[in-house]
Parts: sequence; structure tokens; C-alpha cells
Amino acid sequence: MDNPDDRSALKKLIDMDEFREGKYSREKTESLVFDGRTMESIYKLFKDFDIKYIDYPISSGKESVVFKAEGQMKSYVMKIFKTSTLRFHNIRPYIEGDPRFAHYRKTGRNIVQLWVRKEYANLLECREHGINSPVPMGFMKNVLLMSFIGTKVSPAPKLKDVPEKKREAYLKDAMLQYRKMVQEAKIIHSDLSEYNVLCHRNRSYLIDMGQAVSIKHPMSRQFMERDIQVMRSFALRNQIEFDERWVPVMGEK
Ligand SMILES: Nc1ncnc2c1ncn2[C@@H]1O[C@H](COP(=O)(O)OP(=O)(O)OP(=O)(O)O)[C@@H](O)[C@H]1O
Ligand SMILES: [Mg+2]
Repeated sequence: MDNPDDRSALKKLIDMDEFREGKYSREKTESLVFDGRTMESIYKLFKDFDIKYIDYPISSGKESVVFKAEGQMKSYVMKIFKTSTLRFHNIRPYIEGDPRFAHYRKTGRNIVQLWVRKEYANLLECREHGINSPVPMGFMKNVLLMSFIGTKVSPAPKLKDVPEKKREAYLKDAMLQYRKMVQEAKIIHSDLSEYNVLCHRNRSYLIDMGQAVSIKHPMSRQFMERDIQVMRSFALRNQIEFDERWVPVMGEK
């Protein structure tokens, strides 16, 4: 660590209230998020992308923590998977059966890395098909780097949090993006919900794609039906008419 910028950034990360010793100790996650390997991966991405500092934590979930990071010219999102809580039996159905990942080893630590690689690949596929989603920038072991969606003041709100009068338009765009994802990128999100759509400047962005599978996956149709059902129910709860034309046609597998 030659650059003092890197040192201060990493120190800031460790010192963050969110991760001070004790807070998560009972859940046994705190130390494991920032184990040596994770720190090395963060450091590597800092160097490769010329990141100046970690700005603030955006979200801290069971399986990942998400930070905003500041580069020289742009803002990033760093999604760090907790190697300890990402359970193989939870993610297995979304890895096995996807021909894109058939030849990877799926044991121990590899599985988390494969999960990160898979989210990266899914985001890339989306971007290549013109779907609104974060731009994947890079990954290292259990850490994924992507573009930040939001303003100087805050990350973009989730679909569930946008003002009522804007929900219909954002839902419509989310479904349009989803349809492109299925019909053009030929992947099924498989965890689509009002939590995994970010709303920014009149566009809906699909996020959180670790579990997204190829339409060739044997369960792809069920996953798609579940995605649609979740969005249908969101529409219903918000008195929005769900337009059946939003439903994608999966086509040949
Ligand atoms: N590219 C991004 N730009 C802005 N905010 C983001 C971005 N990616 C993720 N977020 C924020 O971080 C949150 C968690 O990210 P994501 O949904 O990818 O992870 P997750 O595995 O679902 O985590 P959790 O278990 O906390 O839900 C999102 O709900 C969103 O608010
Ligand atoms: Mg999510």
C-alpha cells in the first residue's frame, strides 16, 4: 500500500460505524466480511480502477454489503459478498442447470467467486442488449464493482419507494426492461421484485443478478412465472392495472 489515499480509504472502511467490532458479532458476520482476502480484493479493485475512497454504505444484507465508492471521474458501487453466509444450498439451483457455468468447479470458496462472476456476466449480457442495469466494471474474488445509479445526494430509490403517482410509469419501464432481458438477452432475472428495480430519471434499472439464469436452464419457465407473479402482485397492491402485454414470450430454449 504505497498510496496514502488507499490506506485512508481502507481505514475508513474498517472504521465505519456499521462494521465496528461487536455490532454484528452475534451474527458472526462482521469479521468475515472483511477478512484478509476480502481486503486484498478491495485493494486490488481500488488500484485497478483508481478509486479514491469509500463514500458510504448503501445497504447491508444477509449475504452482501453494498458501498458507494468514489473514483477519479465517477462513482461506483462495490458489492461485497459475505463468504460465510452465502449458502451453497440456496444458490445451487441457480448455478446448476445453467449451461454457461457448467464447466466451472463448484466447491468451497469457488462457489462464491462463481456467484460474483455470474452476476458480472448477467449484467454484461444486459448491457450488451441495451437493458437498463448497472454497468459491470470488474470483480475480484467475492467483490463486484459496478457503476453507481443515483445522484450526488443519494442512491436511486427502489421501485417500492418511489412516490405513488410515479409508480405506474416506473413499473411499466421495469417490465419493458424485463421483457428485453428475457427475449433478447435470453436470461431470466429470477429475483425480480419492487426491491430489485432502481428508479432514476424516469428510467427503471434492473439490479441484483447473481441468481439470473439462461433461458436454457431447466427451471427457467418457473423462475419467469414467479418473477411475473411478484410484479403482478406489486401492481395489484398499488391499484395499477397489470398490462398482459408486459409479459415476455420466452420462445425457443
Ligand atoms: N448499482 C447500484 N447503484 C445504486 N445502488 C445500488 C446499486 N446496486 C445495488 N444498490 C443498492 O444496494 C441494495 C442491495 O443490492 P442488491 O440488491 O444487489 O443486493 P442483495 O444481495 O439483494 O442485498 P440484500 O440482501 O441487502 O437485499 C439495493 O437494494 C440498492 O438499494
Ligand atoms: Mg436485492
